[in-house]
Amino acid sequence: MFLKKSNILNLKFLKVDQIKFLKVYRWNPYFQDKPWFAIYPIELTKCGPMVLDALIQIKNNQDSTLTFRRSCREGICGSCSMNINGINTLACLQPLKSVNKHIIIYPLPHMYIIKDLISDLTNFYSQYKSIKPWLNVSNFETQKEHFQSKNNRLKLNGLYECILCACCSSSCPSYWWNHDKYLGPAVLLQAYRWIIDSRDRKTKQRLIFLSHKMRLFRCHTIMNCSQTCPKGLNPGNAISLIKYKLLNL
Ligand code: SF4
Ligand code: SF4
Ligand code: FES
Repeated sequence: MFLKKSNILNLKFLKVDQIKFLKVYRWNPYFQDKPWFAIYPIELTKCGPMVLDALIQIKNNQDSTLTFRRSCREGICGSCSMNINGINTLACLQPLKSVNKHIIIYPLPHMYIIKDLISDLTNFYSQYKSIKPWLNVSNFETQKEHFQSKNNRLKLNGLYECILCACCSSSCPSYWWNHDKYLGPAVLLQAYRWIIDSRDRKTKQRLIFLSHKMRLFRCHTIMNCSQTCPKGLNPGNAISLIKYKLLNL
């Protein structure tokens, strides 16, 4: 639809294995139209190795109206999360070669859309804020350094690496239906990261806040979250460990 003529003409001279097609979900709030798909050809020899490289190439050379988030292109910022061939993942970590010839890209599922591949994360971030994601110590202790044994530090592994990309929460059926009340796997994994931190002084209050039939107990251990996490984390397990801690409160 927005292809430059020169790009279309060049395709005639390419071998089949030198080209991939990206079918991308589009929606613009300023048009009255329903969402539509745009199909873009990508010449593999002229593109970087990842799906994000292909999207950047499309934006630079074919269609400047295509909109998506990205920043680090290193799997660190969590901005480029989207649904690629049915799986929520980071476009900057998804090699172009590992996906089919036809790549279908949607925004994260079951979220409101701002434009094209950009989902509205306002609710997600306000839920993150609700768990007070910072070290909670008394006023008296704020001015000093807080030490931690090596063993206690090791307990944060598998939790601190979370980049809040929301791939897990937007793959969770419980979160799809109750995203306004259920905190979802990403925020609960982050909550557990502070519960388990030996330096934090509000462990009990954190657990009491989570001990709620909607905030925590909407998790039914379906484990989509752990399967999809592009950082290889296990939010489903973190949720189980919070439930176990509540048993012993
Ligand atoms: S747990 Fe994984 S999928 Fe979920 S927000 Fe963190 S990094 Fe993303
Ligand atoms: S384990 Fe819980 S949080 Fe993870 S996908 Fe299933 S219901 Fe959602
Ligand atoms: S661009 Fe930062 S995680 Fe993909």
